[in-house]
Amino acid sequence: MIKRCLFPAAGYGTRFLPATKAMPKEMLPILTKPLIQYGVEEAMEAGCDIMAIITGRGKRAITDHFDISYELEHQIQGSSKESMLTDIRNIIDKCTFTYTRQNEMKGLGDAIYKGKVLVGSSAPFAVVLADDLCVNPDGDGILTQMVKLYEKYKCCIVATMEVPKEEVHKYGVIEGKAMEDGVFMVSNMIEKPDNDKAPSNLAVIGRYILTPDIFEMIQNTKPGKNGELQITDALCSQAKKGMVLAYKFKGKRFDCGSVDGFVEATNYFYELEKKKEE
Ligand code: G1P
Repeated sequence: MIKRCLFPAAGYGTRFLPATKAMPKEMLPILTKPLIQYGVEEAMEAGCDIMAIITGRGKRAITDHFDISYELEHQIQGSSKESMLTDIRNIIDKCTFTYTRQNEMKGLGDAIYKGKVLVGSSAPFAVVLADDLCVNPDGDGILTQMVKLYEKYKCCIVATMEVPKEEVHKYGVIEGKAMEDGVFMVSNMIEKPDNDKAPSNLAVIGRYILTPDIFEMIQNTKPGKNGELQITDALCSQAKKGMVLAYKFKGKRFDCGSVDGFVEATNYFYELEKKKEE
């Protein structure tokens, strides 16, 4: 079982300035729920109950969100608003939250390495990038699908989806051979390649299952794209040495790190709520 899920959440969210000037981008709400809570709920569904969050300066709202708020709860007790806190209260009751800070922005690989102290080095763990909001209205959540695949192959797995050729430069891109329906054995991975140099249009999306030997791989990885330590490069070494799978997940992903994707997600969840009310 995968019990621990790491949430790199130290980034600045400059694309959402000024909203993110004093507020973590992970706390931006889609309707009434902050982005990171969607990620935590997906991780819980997949069986995780230890949420390890990599924060940074100015991110204290995340810590407060996943804690009891006595005054507020007292205030709304017995009112119609009480039910609005049911979900978050359930999360707080069932999960343990741990935190550490990434002091400098040195890349996703570095952020994940900082999480070693939280997730330990004896068991596999999940990674969720809260910016990528993933849903599967027809069944298992994306992380649940990946955990099931992990149980079969016991190796690192990255989520992928096909993106238009002209957008590959925004993503980690994989090269691989199909093993079974929607599962690829990765032979190469490139972080944000030029559109004409990408090995495929299969982009990595912010869901990973990592085995603890990834920490050694990260330690042996040199800074790559934009001078940052890239998890893509560490996983590429892993793929060349052992085995990494890319999984074309069932469901939908919203790029909530961009205004367009954020609005799209908002509309999607709004329509969903409307339908529930009908
Ligand atoms: C990160 C990863 C990239 C991946 C992307 C998914 O990039 O480095 O490989 O494709 O997340 O959202 P970022 O979007 O943080 O620049």
